[in-house]
Amino acid sequence: MAEEKTKTVKFSILEPDELSDEDMRLLEAAYEVRKNAQAPYSHYLVGAAVKTWNSDEIFTGCNVERASYTQTTHAEQSAVDAAVKKIGPKMKLKKVAIVSAPEGVEIPISFVEDLEWTIQFAHPFDPVDQPNVPCGHCMQIIWENCGGDDSVELLAIHQSGSITKTTIGDAFPWKFGPRDLGIE
Ligand code: THU
Ligand code: ZN
Repeated sequence: MAEEKTKTVKFSILEPDELSDEDMRLLEAAYEVRKNAQAPYSHYLVGAAVKTWNSDEIFTGCNVERASYTQTTHAEQSAVDAAVKKIGPKMKLKKVAIVSAPEGVEIPISFVEDLEWTIQFAHPFDPVDQPNVPCGHCMQIIWENCGGDDSVELLAIHQSGSITKTTIGDAFPWKFGPRDLGIE
């Protein structure tokens, strides 16, 4: 009989008070940049924000669709590329935040302007059965800049308002990456 190998993957649903200041800032940046998404075809708006180990700067991206469809840029890809553009090829990701939902969906969170960088969650969370994660194409893009670190966090706000957290290792358990090409 064939030998079976298994890997357990996990995610968590966070309460707002479990978010660090850094988590809040990243989620807010992703929430804000999502408003600039250009998605006239899918009407699905995605915002992404990344924190790196190289600096304190937050880099953001949103999806940009083209009529040719396949030339669409994904939000996570755009945020990662913005970080590489500023930092260079040694850019190492620390954390990725994603906010995505169809256009017109009122994500049940609101911001308090006079409390700098503070997100307020308006409703209790709906339980979700999977974390909000990037597509496979974006997971590959993220993995290339994780420096082999499986524990890079993927933080997201689901359209229900639930905050989910997982890691690149859990979301993308079996990877093809730089190591396969002999590059550490
Ligand atoms: N999209 C992203 O920006 N990131 C993902 O990882 C999932 C999909 C965008 C692409 C397209 O503009 C829209 O969401 C629907 O697929
Ligand atoms: Zn993607």
